[in-house]
Amino acid sequence: MAQETRRVSVITGGSGGMGIECARLLASEGPIIIADIKARELESAAAQLRKAGGEVTSVLCDVSAADSVAALAQKAAAAGQVQALIHTAGISPTMADWRRIMSVNLIGSALIERAFAPLMAPGGAAVFIASMAGHTVQNAAAAAAVLDRPLAPDFIERLEQVAGPIDPGSAYGLSKQGVIQLCQRVTPAWAKRGARINSISPGLIDTGMGKLEFANQPMMAMMLEQTPLGRWGTAGEIAEVAVFLCSPKASFVTGIDILVDGGMTNVLARQARGLTS
Ligand SMILES: NC(=O)c1ccc[n+]([C@@H]2O[C@H](COP(=O)([O-])OP(=O)(O)OC[C@H]3O[C@@H](n4cnc5c(N)ncnc54)[C@H](O)[C@@H]3O)[C@@H](O)[C@H]2O)c1
Repeated sequence: MAQETRRVSVITGGSGGMGIECARLLASEGPIIIADIKARELESAAAQLRKAGGEVTSVLCDVSAADSVAALAQKAAAAGQVQALIHTAGISPTMADWRRIMSVNLIGSALIERAFAPLMAPGGAAVFIASMAGHTVQNAAAAAAVLDRPLAPDFIERLEQVAGPIDPGSAYGLSKQGVIQLCQRVTPAWAKRGARINSISPGLIDTGMGKLEFANQPMMAMMLEQTPLGRWGTAGEIAEVAVFLCSPKASFVTGIDILVDGGMTNVLARQARGLTS
């Protein structure tokens, strides 16, 4: 009898707030690979997941570096076909300058997509974590065509030309708009391989990153107040949606972005259009 191909799930940012929750859920279904740039946190996450019974491989990886992503993809290919890929690795406005934010969040996402598309199992699926900031960023229309080609050699220069002066906040929003566009652009190619790809745009989520931005950006307290559900979301609530999108239950869902934001983005969008509740 022919041996069945082994299947594996891959989680980038696997030691981060959302990453480890996704890893916890996927580890109950089979072997997983977690990848992250932070060595100590990665090993501690792997140890926790193994203690809970998971079959876990950890891979140190910088998603913004093509060779590092290629090495991660090679490890995944050696482990089997990729059933689920959840790409959570990212950095927020107070963590770096705008070029680094763009490089990790958008160029990194494009490198991950390019490396993993050929490794997906038939029926497999990916979820890339974007942000509600990708829905509310200024200059979105002007930058759309440039954001669509993040691996172009002159990407950063062209972005500066079309988006004007870029600060870490606008770079974050533009990078996440780019992540949403990336998933939509490659949807037909993934479908040809029998695989699906979607993005999730979280609102305010209670993780290290969420807390850091809340402490540094006064407007976030106002946003929390305006969130219809009236609270932070949890990393577990993001992970549940991500794992659902990767599962056969979502077998006809591809090329979409799901807002998991307690209702906040649409409140802001209605306000921007002059509509009241
Ligand atoms: N927390 C929020 O409120 C919020 C809201 C919207 C979107 N997001 C997005 O959700 C995703 C997960 O965020 P989180 O809240 O879990 O944050 P987190 O900081 O807890 O996790 C992010 C992980 O990515 C890793 N990482 C950073 N740069 C990397 C790189 N170059 N290569 C590999 N790994 C790298 C970090 O080490 C960390 O473990 C991010 O993409 C973030 O932009 C977060």
